[in-house]
Amino acid sequence: MNGNHLFVIIIIVGFSFTYSTVINLNSNKQSKHSSRTWDQAIAMAKAFVAQLTLEEKCNMTAGIRGPCAGHIFPVSHLNFKGLCFQDSPSGVGGGVLYSTAFVPGIHIAASWDQDLFYKRGAAIGKEFQGKGVNVILGPMINIDRNARHGRNWEGFGADPYLSGENSFYYIQGIQDQGVIATAKHYICNEQETNRFFGLPGFPNRSDAINAKGYSVNIDDKTIHEIYLWPFASSVAAGVGSVMCSYNQINGTQACQNDKILNGLLKEELQFLGNIMSDWFAIKTGVKSVLAGLDVEMPGGDGFLGFSLVQAVKNRVISETRINDMITRILAPYYLLKQDEGYPSLDLDRDVMRDNYKINRQISSAGIILLKNKNNVLPFNVNKNKYFFIYGAAAGQSNEGSSLNFFIAALKPPTGALYQGGGSGYVVPTYAIDPLSSFLIKGRDSHLQIQYITNQSDYNAINDSFSFRGFANATCLVFISAWSTEGTDRTDLHAFNNGDKLVQTVAAHCANTVVIINSVSQLNIEAWIDLPNVVGVIWSGMPGSEYGPVIVDVLFGDYNPGGKLVFTLAKNDSDYGTDISKTDSSNYNEGVFLDYRHFDKYNIVPRYYFGYGLSYTTFSFSHLHISKCEKEKYTVSSQHQQHRMRPYTNIVASRMYMPIYEITFTVTNTGKVYGSEVSQLYLGFPATAQQPPKVLRGFERVYLAPGKSKQVSLVLTQKDISYWNVINQKWTVAPGIYTVWISTSANKDDVKLQSFFKI
Ligand SMILES: *[C@@H]1O[C@H](CO)[C@@H](O)[C@H](O)[C@H]1NC(C)=O
Ligand SMILES: *[C@@H]1O[C@H](CO)[C@@H](O)[C@H](O)[C@H]1NC(C)=O
Ligand SMILES: *[C@@H]1O[C@H](CO)[C@@H](O)[C@H](O)[C@H]1NC(C)=O
Ligand SMILES: *[C@@H]1O[C@H](CO)[C@@H](O)[C@H](O)[C@H]1NC(C)=O
Ligand SMILES: *[C@@H]1O[C@H](CO)[C@@H](O)[C@H](O)[C@H]1NC(C)=O
Ligand SMILES: *[C@@H]1O[C@H](CO)[C@@H](O)[C@H](O)[C@H]1NC(C)=O
Ligand SMILES: *[C@@H]1O[C@H](CO)[C@@H](O)[C@H](O)[C@H]1NC(C)=O
Repeated sequence: MNGNHLFVIIIIVGFSFTYSTVINLNSNKQSKHSSRTWDQAIAMAKAFVAQLTLEEKCNMTAGIRGPCAGHIFPVSHLNFKGLCFQDSPSGVGGGVLYSTAFVPGIHIAASWDQDLFYKRGAAIGKEFQGKGVNVILGPMINIDRNARHGRNWEGFGADPYLSGENSFYYIQGIQDQGVIATAKHYICNEQETNRFFGLPGFPNRSDAINAKGYSVNIDDKTIHEIYLWPFASSVAAGVGSVMCSYNQINGTQACQNDKILNGLLKEELQFLGNIMSDWFAIKTGVKSVLAGLDVEMPGGDGFLGFSLVQAVKNRVISETRINDMITRILAPYYLLKQDEGYPSLDLDRDVMRDNYKINRQISSAGIILLKNKNNVLPFNVNKNKYFFIYGAAAGQSNEGSSLNFFIAALKPPTGALYQGGGSGYVVPTYAIDPLSSFLIKGRDSHLQIQYITNQSDYNAINDSFSFRGFANATCLVFISAWSTEGTDRTDLHAFNNGDKLVQTVAAHCANTVVIINSVSQLNIEAWIDLPNVVGVIWSGMPGSEYGPVIVDVLFGDYNPGGKLVFTLAKNDSDYGTDISKTDSSNYNEGVFLDYRHFDKYNIVPRYYFGYGLSYTTFSFSHLHISKCEKEKYTVSSQHQQHRMRPYTNIVASRMYMPIYEITFTVTNTGKVYGSEVSQLYLGFPATAQQPPKVLRGFERVYLAPGKSKQVSLVLTQKDISYWNVINQKWTVAPGIYTVWISTSANKDDVKLQSFFKI
């Protein structure tokens, strides 16, 4: 903490906020795709609906077969070609040809860089648009509540604010290309176990439809402050679709749950788009329609669609509600101008352009340096000449990359991991493993390289320790952990006895560096404190540019600056939350999740949420807090304009008006170019019943040595509010708010501290 430069501004304000900021939409340079407003789009959708027969309308509410994961019924006499819905959140999935396997959600989140959140979304959106896909089945924004959840790799980590920022900028990136985004899975879909109760993760169709999901039982404060938070950010961004999930909430299936669909999403958040069912998540027709479901996917099971004709004739469902469903289905289509020259559908069209470049950049940005004893990293090609490389995760998988998407996606691959498995998996057009890139580096820099990628072959591994030159070698151990949709991980340890591999190598090699290629949390206690484990890099789920990216980091051509998006515990039981094996999952921990839980119980983790090292160092100074004046809204209007689009949900985005501006200066005090993520944690007055601190802002700045930059973060009305369960509103608690600027959730990493009073 730099006391000399600490400015404390105490402001007493009443809290009557008004939203008079004038926003000039035309000044937004980032938006390349012109779009309409929701009002315009809804008017056009209503005009379309007026020309449909009841049968046509009803038929449009259920999906039909086609090449995509789902399709909306076409209406040829109105020149409406239908809509194609396709996986996945991190690239065009479903086993199509010519698709860039982008870094998944968990990896982009680790970049903590809003600009890159947007650019990744835009690059992914361009590929969907180029192939003529109308609706992308992403982002996946469920919270990493359970470390073993098989789909954590698709999402944005354990913190709702971080997940909300990711959701917001991803959706803008997608929708700026004219593609409709889908926020999923709504809501509290934080495990795979029992998603079809008592059945495996992918049962046959009839079993899936007849099965109920486990029930998440959750209170109002927790759902608002943690799980609904990123969905609220998505609605504010203007997301066109939301997908309801397999599980129940409080004993009612998500896709027929009036309280969460009509109540929270459509009324409270003012969501104007459509709600589709996850594939086979619908269990009943009329009840779902009345609860707020608009589209049955993939369709063909007779719940919605043609069968609603009879329900309308019997007056069980009003035709007004049917009109509302079709209006909601078509509004996003008009909103993003898909009615004007949208590309024809061709899933195998090559529209990858040079997207590998942005994929490489975002992959590098998500790499996290966890340990660097005596600055062993980055390697110097003049000093580190001799490398021994161990581990299957260093090389290509034995199976190659199968084009059979479900085989490739559901079976743990033996080699380097680029993504996890399930519907979120993108069959890569190519993927470069670390070993291949390392060998090229070795050729160019005259490095001596030995490698063993069969990590069961302890004869060969033992033999290597007596090779000529081993005593002076640097050892790299590549370990991995994989997971997939449909099942949860059985434990949090590295795959294929990875702990034993590290222990064995470290017992002989004084310079052991471990590279962790993991879907989400990993238990590394078996070896992290071994004195010979001098370096640890978290390579996460790095997408198809993994090889070049890890070599850049190891040799200092890229200075790592990613940060953990979850806490790494010393003991699995320290997380305090886990997969439920019964028919209910009780979210009894409330808002005390991840670092909020570790803070509450004073548990010291192995590595804190938000943690990550760099090859350079930074200093912090000049903390200043000021109230955003309504009249002089320079900061707030810049902030708002950056986030505004014609398709933004204006009503929902009012909660995101800046109220406070927090500025400070970051300086690169080291010798090399690098980045630091400044993290703003907020402490609330006691009446808000908040955890000791919560993340409420961050910015990653990239600086040359000796250079400084002033960072400006804003706190919005929502950021300083808590969910008041008595009056069912976001409420500001009067009292003292503490602002910590830190480089992780560890209180020892706090660099600046101040407070304001409301
Ligand atoms: C609606 O769907 C039903 C059942 O699939 C079909 O028989 C009917 O022709 C469809 N109606 C229209 C207008 O396409
Ligand atoms: C689905 O699997 C169940 C067994 O789990 C079987 O009884 C049923 O006949 C199968 N249904 C179909 C349509 O294959
Ligand atoms: C779930 O149940 C709790 C406890 O009864 C209740 O307070 C809450 O409002 C319910 N939430 C939903 C979405 O049903
Ligand atoms: C890896 O080594 C083990 C133990 O020597 C051996 O059984 C196995 O066949 C090897 N695997 C491959 C793919 O060579
Ligand atoms: C490898 O070396 C370790 C330690 O020296 C020994 O315990 C183990 O049996 C050896 N394994 C093989 C397959 O030789
Ligand atoms: C290996 O290391 C030893 C001691 O650290 C040193 O004396 C020796 O010169 C090194 N050999 C090579 C080939 O670098
Ligand atoms: C982890 O925690 C559990 C439950 O608190 C305890 O029984 C176990 O001994 C702990 N394990 C280690 C390695 O500390």
